[in-house]
Amino acid sequence: MSSTINTMLIEKRVFNPSKEFVSRARISGMDQYRAMCEEAERNPDSFWRTLAQENLQWRKPFTKVLNDSNAPFYTWFEDGELNVSENCLDVHVKNGNGDKTAIIFEADDGTVQSITYRDLLARVCRIANGIKTLGYGKGDRAIIYLPMSIEAIAVMQACARLGLTHSVVFGGFSARSLHQRIVDVGAKLVITADAQVRGGRQIPLKAAVDEALSYEGGDVVEKVVVYERTGSQVDWVEGRDVRLSEIEAGQAEECEPVAVEAEHPLFVLYTSGSTGKPKGVQHSSGGYLLWAKMTALWVFDAKPEDIFWCTADVGWVTGHSYIAYGSMAAGLTQIVFEGIPTYPNAGRFWEMVQRHKVSIFYTAPTAIRSLIKASELNPEHHPRRYDLSSLRLLGSVGEPINPEAWMWYYENVGGSRCPIVDTWWQTETGGHILTPLPGATPLKPGSCTLPLPGIDAAVVDESGKELPAGAGGLLVIRRPWPAMIRTVWGDENRFRTSYFPSELGGMYMAGDNAQRDEDGYFWILGRTDDVLSVSGHRLGGTEIESALVAHELVAEAAVVGRPDATTGEAIVAFIMLKQSAPDGEEAQKIAETLRNWVAREVGPIAKPRDIRFGNSLPKTRSGKIMRRLLRLVAEGRDIDQDTSTLENPDVLKQFSDVY
Ligand code: PRX
Repeated sequence: MSSTINTMLIEKRVFNPSKEFVSRARISGMDQYRAMCEEAERNPDSFWRTLAQENLQWRKPFTKVLNDSNAPFYTWFEDGELNVSENCLDVHVKNGNGDKTAIIFEADDGTVQSITYRDLLARVCRIANGIKTLGYGKGDRAIIYLPMSIEAIAVMQACARLGLTHSVVFGGFSARSLHQRIVDVGAKLVITADAQVRGGRQIPLKAAVDEALSYEGGDVVEKVVVYERTGSQVDWVEGRDVRLSEIEAGQAEECEPVAVEAEHPLFVLYTSGSTGKPKGVQHSSGGYLLWAKMTALWVFDAKPEDIFWCTADVGWVTGHSYIAYGSMAAGLTQIVFEGIPTYPNAGRFWEMVQRHKVSIFYTAPTAIRSLIKASELNPEHHPRRYDLSSLRLLGSVGEPINPEAWMWYYENVGGSRCPIVDTWWQTETGGHILTPLPGATPLKPGSCTLPLPGIDAAVVDESGKELPAGAGGLLVIRRPWPAMIRTVWGDENRFRTSYFPSELGGMYMAGDNAQRDEDGYFWILGRTDDVLSVSGHRLGGTEIESALVAHELVAEAAVVGRPDATTGEAIVAFIMLKQSAPDGEEAQKIAETLRNWVAREVGPIAKPRDIRFGNSLPKTRSGKIMRRLLRLVAEGRDIDQDTSTLENPDVLKQFSDVY
């Protein structure tokens, strides 16, 4: 946290958008930005009404904009009806853009396949008709566990077309995590693939589904649809399992979109919170889509001729809003990439930008940092070796971008020509919240700058009082916005207590610490809870602790994040075994067992980097684990406080000794 504060104090560089960029931008100049903000503040009803009327196609027009009578359960455009897939696909075909390329898919091995909006619509309709034939539709839930593919997007769109609420699970989560989500959301249908291919390796997916369904409660699932990505051998349950190609075969290429209420849940996406169990973040159809589309247009300054590439996976919210929905509603041509940035070598991203003439590139700081490192090791894969002249805008998402990485990205990828939009948002916000507008906002490396028009963000203290410039506090959003989380699936109480604590008097609490500088710019300082960010993935410390404690050898566990130059944070686990603390080879062996256990229980992405053993955990006399001290130990720093109030100060020394 302290490094970000220092950054803000010393970071004086400002980068203004070029005249050329401003002259062609959708929102050009700060005057236009401010006018939009003022309009949204003065007359929110007409601001949102106009946007929703002009940018979405409604089956039944809405009359009401915001209903705040049951706060914090806000509803937007509640008496209107629409279909999300119609707004993402049919509208473009009807507007004469059917032949425009919707998706350029590049497989792990470099094979490229493109699909037009017209053909994508036909594919979505066939899949939707197939799902309908299986007997599912509005009111049902489907779990999607698919690799990055045209199929993944088509399946999401097909669900949207039918009003079937989907919940996408990232392929890096294990069978246990998949099972938890299947049961929580009550899915009757799972759509998966035989395997996924990443970095030249095949990773089975169907086998994880089989395992998940074998656990208690997994039998709620009636059908498993399998996309044959690799054609690899999978176990088959007759009557339950069916191939995607079979349900599509012979289906009509038209499928009437089902009009749903604006508040109908388009999807539930699980994310880590401060307790062990992931939260099912429920999103709407109308308000969500409106904001996903508007932000794609405004923040990416999207134009019809752009080639847009968001490198996220559809298993995360970024892939929902800026691959599957917002960018589709905006009618963009976009890249969908199956693989990883370092295969076959660390020049993959730059080579793809060159090959496909990408003009807007949106990625995570962790990817940038790992590519900086790789290009230092092997200059052959340095971005300057590639023709990146097609780029006109860069974006960053998921974690703070340190100014050095920002500068490297700006100079070496963007050729000191492309603005960088550092977009702060969350699974819960549905779309961008704090971000530069590339044709307006002067940029400061490391700051996500200012709120979008219509967003009332602030930094407050624990009683909800706004803090002056330079003071760190809680990041809040004071007024509702259309794409906000509607509830935690099946747990209204958790929704209220997690995001609208009574001390803050009804403001949305993001769970991040932030501060503003004298220009009003926001600087994100990190999470207020134990949520970790590892390679841009949001993981719950408590969730990993629960998994560790579930192992028969473990008595207690505490998990903290240690700053890491490449992955943002690295997971460090402090463990008290039921037996006394091991050392040497035995410690290494048990650590490996526990690492694999976490991979099994949560997913390979949650494996602790470092596991330390002690005969107890440092606790206050009232029994609270001192995570702050463990963080210092994890970083190898000196303990800067008197530890005499600890129940067992000696254990800190034990944890400091790495076996
Ligand atoms: O801590 C913030 C960080 O990521 C969290 C949200 O994670 P998730 O719901 O997985 O969504 C990530 C993609 C939108 C936030 O609470 N975060 C996200 N973007 C930024 C960020 N931190 C700093 N700067 C950002 N641009």
